[in-house]
Amino acid sequence: MHWYEDEGFWSDFSETMFSERRREETAATVARSPLLGFPAGSRVLDLCCGPGLYLEPLVRRGYSVTGVDLSAELLKRARSVCDDTGVDVRLIQADMLTHVEPDAYDVVLNVFTSFGYFDDPQDNVQVLRNAHASLVPGGQLLIDVMGKEVLAGWIGRPQLVELDGAYVVQRDTVLDSWTRLRTDWTLVRDGVAREASLTSFLYSAAELRGLFEDAGFTGVECFGGFDAEPYDHHARRLIVRGTKPVR
Ligand SMILES: C[S@@+](CC[C@H](N)C(=O)[O-])C[C@H]1O[C@@H](n2cnc3c(N)ncnc32)[C@H](O)[C@@H]1O
Repeated sequence: MHWYEDEGFWSDFSETMFSERRREETAATVARSPLLGFPAGSRVLDLCCGPGLYLEPLVRRGYSVTGVDLSAELLKRARSVCDDTGVDVRLIQADMLTHVEPDAYDVVLNVFTSFGYFDDPQDNVQVLRNAHASLVPGGQLLIDVMGKEVLAGWIGRPQLVELDGAYVVQRDTVLDSWTRLRTDWTLVRDGVAREASLTSFLYSAAELRGLFEDAGFTGVECFGGFDAEPYDHHARRLIVRGTKPVR
């Protein structure tokens, strides 16, 4: 089993990735981001939606929203949050490697480093091709990852994340001459340690832009955050956006 197929990993490290604080910050980001401003009623796919931090705020911004994720457990949590808050979303359990709904969306989003998980680089390009096929002509794909250049600014120091009654130590290791990144996490709760290790591809802005172009996207642009900052030495994220050309 690959690390990303392990339900136990996503639930054990859930508090680190999907905290209530992050949910609140995400809602504020979605409400104001110029990169997430689309015409009212736009059909938006949140590819790898997890427990749905983006789903409810996207609906509140006026879009018709679908979430796709591999994890049944995380989708259950997304469903429960949407039901509790009374927002209408469509949720589908599927693998991004194969999921295609031809010409079904105006926008495909893939956020919070949910890209580059497959060992074969061509499989990661296939995800871009699938998104291309699922978009209408003129539709946009937006991917948000930790860019290689951003990571280079702080990698090397282990990170400590304090949780309620627990903590997580994160160590990052660059592999294959800056091609991939391994992240080792140790969660310590009640004196018991749980280890997890995940490996994914790392992309520079030029590399990810090139992959978008290989998959058929045009007008590809890079940003350094959801406020549409430039991708420069102040960038905190790498956000790449491309358009499926109108034939
Ligand atoms: C880092 S989380 C990000 C979740 C969400 N986008 C967010 O902002 O909180 C990555 C997500 O990708 C999902 N995932 C991993 N591999 C997948 C695959 N092959 N197909 C679909 N979803 C996948 C995981 O279940 C998880 O929900």
